Amino acid sequence: MEENNHICETGYFIKNNFLNHQQIENLKSEIFYLENKFIFNGNSVGTVWFNKNYYDVYNPITNINSLNLLETSVDIAKLIFKNKYLDYRLTNLRISVEKYNAYPLDWHSDIVNHTVRAIIYLDKVGDNNGSLSIISGSHLNKSNNINHKVNLTKEDLNKKRNLNCDAGDILCFDPNIIHKKNPVLEIRRTIMLEFQQQKSSSNKYIILIDNSKLTKKTLESFQLFNSANGTSKFELNVYSKKTSYHTPFIIFLKILFNRLFKKN
Ligand SMILES: [Fe+2]
Repeated sequence: MEENNHICETGYFIKNNFLNHQQIENLKSEIFYLENKFIFNGNSVGTVWFNKNYYDVYNPITNINSLNLLETSVDIAKLIFKNKYLDYRLTNLRISVEKYNAYPLDWHSDIVNHTVRAIIYLDKVGDNNGSLSIISGSHLNKSNNINHKVNLTKEDLNKKRNLNCDAGDILCFDPNIIHKKNPVLEIRRTIMLEFQQQKSSSNKYIILIDNSKLTKKTLESFQLFNSANGTSKFELNVYSKKTSYHTPFIIFLKILFNRLFKKN
């Protein structure tokens, strides 16, 4: 990936203080507000729960207002790809909250080409709270990346690096690198973005572009959001059509309460 020497050589780079303290606090309070609003019966302002300790903010570009995530996407694309950033497309954007290791991820490699992912951390992450560990240089061994799950050799483990970060830092990495998420013993709130090279035929995720968030800056770089290239399939993030087994019980209590005591 010639556009970014850091990612090309080491497979990742970290930029400290990408967001400042006030931006983080504002985002956390918005996410907390949305945490208690569930997506039911056409309501699209809220959160989607995968299990009782893991949820995503639904349509984050629309539902987050303290930060214009379309503008943030432009900033990150420029940070990673420099003046070639319009050769890339935003292909996923998620805000996720995980508590108590609700979604463990062991060593693996995501077998994709010409793709960079970025994670903005809203909490300090470390060995015991959801930082990413990587095997240095492993993004270059693409011919060995046949399986998603990877069993490490002793030699691999000697090249292990823990990419611990502070709240506000952004980690950008080549998803071909062998990586794992360390256990989340407390809470891990993240904004995750994926960029693919414009012509990539890899699957992409559907991103709702909210026209109330369009600004001069986003319109100038609008190609970044036009990810349809005629060769890729689009998919939704893995939201179930059924009520999850782990749906918090409070949802049902709230529905019952509304039905009994509120007219609408
Ligand atoms: Fe991964």
